[in-house]
Amino acid sequence: MDRSERLNYLKKVADLSDTDIATITDPNIAFNFDNADQMIENSIGVLSLPLGIATNFVINGKEYLIPMATEEPSVIAAASNAAKIARHTGGFTANCDEAIMIGQVQLVSIPPLLMKSTRQKLLLHRKELLRLANSNNRSVKARDLQIKEIEDKSENMMGTMLIAELLVDTRDAMGANAINTMCETISPKLEILTGGKTIVRILSNYSTRRLVRCNAIFSKYELGGEETVDRILYAYAFAYSDPYRAVTHNKGIMNGIDAVALATGQDFRAIEAAAHAYAARDGTYRSMTRWFKTKEGDLAGDVELPLAVGTVGGAVSVHPMTKLGIKILGVKTAKELAVVLAAVGLAQNLAAMKALVTEGIQLGHMRLHARNIATLAGARGNLIKLVAQRIADENKVDIHRAKEIIALMSEKCPDINNHYIDNNK
Ligand code: MEV
Repeated sequence: MDRSERLNYLKKVADLSDTDIATITDPNIAFNFDNADQMIENSIGVLSLPLGIATNFVINGKEYLIPMATEEPSVIAAASNAAKIARHTGGFTANCDEAIMIGQVQLVSIPPLLMKSTRQKLLLHRKELLRLANSNNRSVKARDLQIKEIEDKSENMMGTMLIAELLVDTRDAMGANAINTMCETISPKLEILTGGKTIVRILSNYSTRRLVRCNAIFSKYELGGEETVDRILYAYAFAYSDPYRAVTHNKGIMNGIDAVALATGQDFRAIEAAAHAYAARDGTYRSMTRWFKTKEGDLAGDVELPLAVGTVGGAVSVHPMTKLGIKILGVKTAKELAVVLAAVGLAQNLAAMKALVTEGIQLGHMRLHARNIATLAGARGNLIKLVAQRIADENKVDIHRAKEIIALMSEKCPDINNHYIDNNK
């Protein structure tokens, strides 16, 4: 499909309005400098990223068209390709915990002898503290309070501290703002009750009570035979056992997760931080995914990771393009969005490993990168494809060669760029 065919298709399938289409085709109208200026400090402009659609995804029996914002070629093609393979065996199956996040208030200057009794006192005042925490907010609810004692493990020997943790049900919001407000609201009361001082009052981005699990089977036939399955298992063994490989392997997973997170207005730094910490939960940084061979010789993969995402609040509600991202995706809840992110991560990982253990990553990557180079060299419209193909075939994906090819073509047809520009195709 060319761009207008893609947009028409999206319009039909995702039920987009003419205004939605106008937002996509001219994002400056919907989000310009004035909006940026409201959002951040010292703003000077707006940075755009390519936005594409990953196809072929079936997750829990439902079809998805998945918006992805990324500057990296191959990512969307790779995810779509892996999703196509997974379709043959029913697609992705996923589930997600309730949206429970943790807010932390650090309490210091409590004499060691009083630690135990102070802890008990706080638990006795649990209901009152929860009422106070919930006094500001209606939709996001603090459900429980836990108190933990932590020893300073730094060089400074600041002593033992108590950490009051609010367990907050954020429902369809990521929840950061509401939780931070709650922590700050209960902080004076905590000081009165303990006689100590509160220092840090903020949510924890390590959202381990908001885990998402996703699995899929990839048929050995679709993967190119049992040898590919075995080679992928070797690649997984490497990523499980060596942090140097695990970081790159997981970076590939996050290529997909971040791209959907960006397109739907999520806090991708929070997602990244939690995902990597969870990958090191047994003390060694490992692969975020797991891979096995089934009795039939097919490849089974799963991923479990914390995903704090929201379909309401935050940037999702402010930025017209991310609102549209959610609309295109058609997710109704934060849980459903989390499930999609996990499926994309798993698909991205399969695609990367498949490429790595067979033809290598560069062949496909360079073919797509060649398009960037052709554009940089001055090609426009359909000429981009032509020049890209030529430099990729010649295995000379560099700007000098691309310019030479354009110059050679211009000798024959001086108006070469206009010649190839055909209604924005
Ligand atoms: C590149 O952005 C991602 C990969 O390096 C991931 C991997 O090595 O598994 C291809």
